[in-house]
This record gives sequence, structure tokens and C-alpha cells, in this order.
Amino acid sequence: MEKAVLRKLTVLCIICGLAGIALVGTMVIRDDNREWKPYQADYKEQLLKKISRDRNPAFYERVAGMQPEVRQVVIDEWGAVDRCVSCHVGIEDPLFADARQPFTKHPNPELLKNHPVEKYGCTICHGGQGLSTTFAGAAHKSIAHWPVPMVSKGLMQSRCGVCHKDFEAIGADRLIKGREIFKEMHCAGCHQIERQGGAVGPDLSAFADKDPGSFTYANLEGGHSKQNWVIEHFKNPKKVSPSSPMHLPAMSDYQIECLASYVLSLSQRDFPRQYTPKLRAGFVPPRVDVTVPELELSSDAENNQGSE
Ligand code: HEC
Ligand code: HEC
Ligand code: HEC
Ligand code: HEC
Repeated sequence: MEKAVLRKLTVLCIICGLAGIALVGTMVIRDDNREWKPYQADYKEQLLKKISRDRNPAFYERVAGMQPEVRQVVIDEWGAVDRCVSCHVGIEDPLFADARQPFTKHPNPELLKNHPVEKYGCTICHGGQGLSTTFAGAAHKSIAHWPVPMVSKGLMQSRCGVCHKDFEAIGADRLIKGREIFKEMHCAGCHQIERQGGAVGPDLSAFADKDPGSFTYANLEGGHSKQNWVIEHFKNPKKVSPSSPMHLPAMSDYQIECLASYVLSLSQRDFPRQYTPKLRAGFVPPRVDVTVPELELSSDAENNQGSE
């Protein structure tokens, strides 16, 4: 009896062992083809050309001995593992100011000084799939339903607003502009933000946190991302949501990006204290609907529902 059990266990162990060896084997083979490896080799080669062996032999030797490795920033506070730096190796390196991508030093070093890479990583501002070490996987290509896919240039400020509620303090011109447009176009007549505004349309207070999977992409051109949904919806609400009572005047791409940045920045997400910017003394969040003539608007909204 005991022996039979032991024999079974031994066989099981052998099978598991073989499976393990096979797995490691395939991992080693696949590892040789990692996209980031050639980038790191290239980076090392470029770096060795830029530094002087004579002036700083110790540093030169260290660089010469550099082995390719997955580089990553782990941020426990929001469970992110950002491996962008496996390819973007020169992101903090002044010697790489004029290098080509993915080696270029960050165009905004001041920003990285205020948000150190080891504390913030990259995806909190840029979006994308931090864990991925491939170009397509890191969401340089659009990935459907990922919470925040790689953010396009025009929408970058939407990410700043998730933490910085005082847009003026950080000079976020697009968020300021977007908030102005929101006011001018009386969006608050139908939408609430922080309990201010009408209730014809969805509450937008946590629009940034809304699951991209909850949108309908059937009538959408381009990628299935929330960012794209918002842009297309602002270009033509009825095309994206056929039963929508929302009708907007034609806007320039710039205006649309500002408005989209603004709504995509509206978040109720709580960050730990060290990630929460201090607000200026006496800062009051601008009230969104103070200029909205409410009566006129609510009847306006009802009229629109039937007429367009
Ligand atoms: C496999 C390597 C690789 C990884 C991983 C990677 N990138 Fe890149 N990245 C590149 C390359 C290559 C370019 C240049 C693309 C071009 O010029 O067409 C680039 C360009 C960029 C740009 C410039 C604008 C653009 O889209 O062309 C940004 C911003 C960027 N990456 C951010 C990120 C972030 C954020 C991550 C992590 C989520 C990341 N990258 C992960 C290779 C990578
Ligand atoms: C605090 C927010 C923030 C963080 C953190 C951050 N970035 Fe950026 N990044 C920006 C902004 C804003 C820009 C400027 C976009 C523009 O050109 O208007 C930018 C620009 C870039 C560009 C150049 C884009 C282009 O089109 O030329 C690259 C590449 C890039 N970032 C990569 C990274 C990587 C890799 C990390 C992580 C190591 C990172 N960034 C961390 C905000 C951030
Ligand atoms: C995860 C939250 C977070 C994100 C996202 C973020 N920041 Fe910050 N930022 C901070 C914190 C925290 C500070 C520290 C300053 C403080 O305590 O007030 C800071 C500091 C700054 C400062 C220095 C200002 C000062 O008062 O010291 C600037 C400028 C700034 N951020 C701009 C930006 C911009 C632009 C973006 C978007 C590209 C951005 N931030 C994204 C959290 C964030
Ligand atoms: C007449 C009322 C009305 C006005 C005015 C209006 N909306 Fe809407 N909005 C709606 C309704 C109803 C929906 C839901 C149907 C849809 O997706 O279009 C909606 C949907 C949205 C959504 C998607 C919200 C979600 O959670 O799915 C956003 C973002 C939005 N509106 C922003 C705006 C902005 C910005 C303005 C001003 C430029 C505006 N709306 C003006 C009624 C309105």
C-alpha cells in the first residue's frame, strides 16, 4: 500500500520535473528573441562611444560589462510593474538627448524630477501595458479595452488631472481650456460633476475611472479604446451613440482634444498621500455650472431630445 503510493508519487515527480525542464527550455529559446535585448545591446554600444575610457575607466568597465536584463519599476501603491525602461534605456541619460527612440532622454526632464521614475514609473502618465516587453504589447499599438492604453500626445494632460486638481498650478493649458469649453457649451446642463449639474446624461465625476468595456464600439472608426470613443463621440455623438440627445457644434481637433482631456481627467481615484499634490491654500475647485441658466437648459435638453 505505502509502496504503491510512493511509486505513484515518484512517477508524478518525474513527470513534473520533465515538464519543468521543457518549460524552462522553451523560455530560454524564446528569451533569445526578446525585442528589448537588441535595444540594450545597441544602447550599450552607443554609450561606450560617448564615454571616455581614459577619463573614467571604472565607469567604462561597468558599462562594458553590462548584461542585457529586463529593467522595471515596481510601484506597490497602485500595483504597477513598468518595463518601458527595458527599451527606453536612456530615458534619464543626458548623453542621449539627441539619440533616436527608444533611447532618447525624456523631452521633459523637469517633469521626471518632480515625478522620479523609480517612484512613478511611466504608465501613470503615458498609459500602456507596463508589464509588456514588446513594442506591440506595450500598447504602442492600440489594445482593446485596456484601462488606459498609450495616451496620444494631444491627450497627455488628461493623466495629469487625475492627480492634480489645480490645473492652473501646473499650467495644464489643455485642461483649463477643456473646462472652459465645458462651461461655454453648457455641458453641465445635462451632466453632473461632483454633484453639480443636470442628470440627463451620465454623471462624469469619475469618467476617467469608467471601464472601457462598458462603452459600445460598434459605430466607431479606429481603435476600441475609451480615448478614441470620446474623441469620436465629441465629433459626432449620434454616430457613436445613435439614441443620444447630445448634439455639439463642430469643433476643431484642438478643441476636441482639450474637452476630451478634461473629461478623461475626471477621477475619484484616491492616491496615497505622497502621490497627492498639495493644494494651494485657499484653492477652491471651480464650480462647473455657476454660469449655466438651469431652467433654460433643462427645457433646451428636452427639446433637443425630440428634434435631432
Ligand atoms: C520593445 C521595446 C519598447 C518597449 C517595451 C516600450 N517602447 Fe516605447 N518606443 C519604442 C520604440 C522603438 C519607439 C520609437 C517608435 C517610432 O519611432 O516609430 C518608442 C516610442 C515611444 C514614445 C514616443 C511616441 C511614440 O509612440 O512613438 C513614447 C511616448 C513611448 N515609446 C512610451 C513608452 C511607454 C510608456 C512604454 C511602457 C508602457 C514603452 N514605450 C515601452 C520601443 C519600446
Ligand atoms: C509625470 C508624467 C510623466 C511620466 C512619469 C513620464 N512621462 Fe514621458 N512624457 C510626459 C509628457 C507630458 C510628455 C510630453 C508629450 C509631448 O510631447 O507633448 C512626455 C514625453 C515622452 C516621450 C517623447 C514622446 C514623443 O512623442 O517624442 C517619451 C519617449 C516618453 N515620454 C517616455 C517616457 C518613459 C519611458 C517614462 C518612464 C520612464 C516616462 N515617459 C515617464 C509625461 C510623463
Ligand atoms: C500619480 C499622481 C500624479 C500624476 C499622474 C502627475 N503628477 Fe505632478 N505631481 C504629483 C505630486 C504628488 C507632486 C509633488 C508636489 C506636491 O506635493 O504638491 C507633483 C508635482 C508636480 C509639479 C511641480 C509643481 C509643484 O508644485 O511642486 C508639476 C509642474 C507637475 N507635477 C506637473 C504634472 C504634469 C504636467 C503631469 C502630467 C503630465 C503630472 N504632474 C502628473 C503627482 C502627480
Ligand atoms: C442634451 C443633454 C446633453 C448635453 C447638452 C451634453 N450631453 Fe453628454 N451625454 C448626454 C447623454 C444622454 C449621454 C448618454 C448617451 C451617449 O453616450 O451619448 C451623454 C454622454 C456623454 C459622455 C459619455 C459618458 C459615459 O459615461 O458614457 C460624455 C463624456 C459626455 N456626454 C460629455 C459631454 C460634454 C463634454 C458635453 C458638452 C460639450 C455634453 N456631454 C453635452 C446628454 C448630454
